[in-house]
Amino acid sequence: MLSRIDQITNDINSFTANTAADLEAYRLKYLSKKGILSELFDDFKTIPSEQKKETGQRLNLLKQAAQEKYNSFKSLLSENEEKASGQDLSRPSFPNQYGSRHPISIVRNEIIDIFTRIGFIVSEGPEIENDDHVFTRLNFAPEHPARDMQDTFYISRASAEDSSPDDMLLRTHTSSVQVRVMQSKKPPIRTISPGRVFRNEAISARAHCIFHQVEGLYIDENVSFADLKQTLLFFSREMFGQGTEIRLRPSYFPFTEPSAEMDVSCKICGGKGCNVCKYTGWLEVLGCGMVHPNVLEACNIDSKKYTGFAFGMGIERLAMLKYQVNDLRLYFENDIRFLDQFKTAF
Ligand code: PHE
Repeated sequence: MLSRIDQITNDINSFTANTAADLEAYRLKYLSKKGILSELFDDFKTIPSEQKKETGQRLNLLKQAAQEKYNSFKSLLSENEEKASGQDLSRPSFPNQYGSRHPISIVRNEIIDIFTRIGFIVSEGPEIENDDHVFTRLNFAPEHPARDMQDTFYISRASAEDSSPDDMLLRTHTSSVQVRVMQSKKPPIRTISPGRVFRNEAISARAHCIFHQVEGLYIDENVSFADLKQTLLFFSREMFGQGTEIRLRPSYFPFTEPSAEMDVSCKICGGKGCNVCKYTGWLEVLGCGMVHPNVLEACNIDSKKYTGFAFGMGIERLAMLKYQVNDLRLYFENDIRFLDQFKTAF
């Protein structure tokens, strides 16, 4: 019996398993109820009692070795399986937290996507600006009320009464980027400028001291108001749906002449009138106009040769219409319960 134990010990020591099937065959052969080891334990009962001590010890050692061999191959094989699948199978799968894009980013990206399809490029400028770029070169008169401390966050101001082109401030509109682009590039210019703007307003559902705009600027020979209108119609239909109508109402901005405000037909009621459009059927979405010759000249562009149009829209305003969110503050509080509702691929 001892020599049989020796032989089986050798067999077990030299055993290796490459697959789960090999290991299962091993288990059946040695460790199962009808396997070699239980056979040996049965035989053990019949041997003379003076041999029992030594044989019993050897048999127990063999059983232990056989079991250890099984265990080590079992863990090796499952480790390999994990590696082959490229995953950590012990990792818990829940809860899975996915981020989502901010609605302002979604709408901004959509606007950029629409305008880049018709040849506009994106340009950016600083949020901390001087009076020169925000007001002076945009044809704001020195006493224009927008320059007032009540509207503008000043960082440094040479005089409390008079404004100076060197005064530093937080830009109140992205039109300052128009100036920077015109100063640094020759026409033709076709660009949009998304960015944050700042105004000294009390925070409420309808006003905030920070918001986002996208500026548009197109300068070339023979650019007309018809080009502006067609560009805005194209944009509105891409943004709000192909059935959308636009209307331009005369308005005033120091840096455009003529100037207009654009409304789109209310997509919520289809123009019939509802509480979103205040029963007018129209929603105001942006300001626009033909770039004032004074602005072109102030930026070293020949106003006899070139004309252009510009427009500026509020991203929050478009997002409010798109998502029917009527409290502006929600866009700035970063409440996960709000943001979680904008899961999208865009
Ligand atoms: N800058 C203007 C505003 O903030 C919008 C505008 C931009 C109007 C370009 C005309 C042309 O209200």
